[in-house]
Amino acid sequence: MLKKIQESANFITGKVNNKPKIGVILGSGLGDFVSLIENKKVIPYHEIPHFFKTTVEGHSGQLIFGTMSGIEIVVMQGRVHLYEGHDILEVSLPTRVLGLLGIKNLILTNAAGGINANFAPGDLIAIADHINLMGKNPLIGPNINEFGPRFPDMSFAYNPILLNCIKTSCEELNYPFKKGVYCALSGPTYETPAEIAMLKVLGADMVGMSTVPETIVANHMGMQVAGISCITNMAAGISKVKLSHDDIKEVATKSMGNFKNILKKTVEKIGQLK
Ligand code: HPA
Repeated sequence: MLKKIQESANFITGKVNNKPKIGVILGSGLGDFVSLIENKKVIPYHEIPHFFKTTVEGHSGQLIFGTMSGIEIVVMQGRVHLYEGHDILEVSLPTRVLGLLGIKNLILTNAAGGINANFAPGDLIAIADHINLMGKNPLIGPNINEFGPRFPDMSFAYNPILLNCIKTSCEELNYPFKKGVYCALSGPTYETPAEIAMLKVLGADMVGMSTVPETIVANHMGMQVAGISCITNMAAGISKVKLSHDDIKEVATKSMGNFKNILKKTVEKIGQLK
């Protein structure tokens, strides 16, 4: 695994000289954020050794280096998921590669179903914590000591300072700041109403099929993580309507303006830290 990750990273450093400290992973339907990047250098995933073609509609697969308000960033437009049939090591490999490239702050974004009754479709919610119900953990197996400890602390999996950057960004934009606990399941089925009732009892505010593997691996490597969920629908049983990927993509698209503004400001604030 270590060798694969180094090969991917070496390929990328052979293509670009950029040395960003901030990385962003864009979720379903949220890829248009890349239109804000200046001085773009694009590497399609299929060119990068050990990266995977994304198979989901609404996810294009490319790594984009560039600047935003003069701050260097790298953005993953599209990710792979467990439900596509990749194992969790493959799903988290790009995050490992970002770590090797020197990323210190990683902003993870996703589309999620809302469980908390104070949320509505279209809301952008900062991730304060997560519950891993994927049945898998990307750190199972021999520990790679070069990356991090055997038993990483997850008390601050979503870094409070970065969370505060999202909060102040929302406030400056007059966007109501909300945060919540993200619960990840493997998918690809959406949940049953009974499962959502259970997740609510467990303390989940939103539910999705991504992000958690990346958060775990990033924390293992000592990166600081921030997360933003776009509530594309109220979860099964909370809303009585049937869920469809097309409707979910449409809501994500409608939230694009706010999403871009909040994320850009958050990048600027993180870029100013320390
Ligand atoms: N459940 C799981 N994943 C999702 C949902 C949902 O309701 N909406 C968007 N991604």
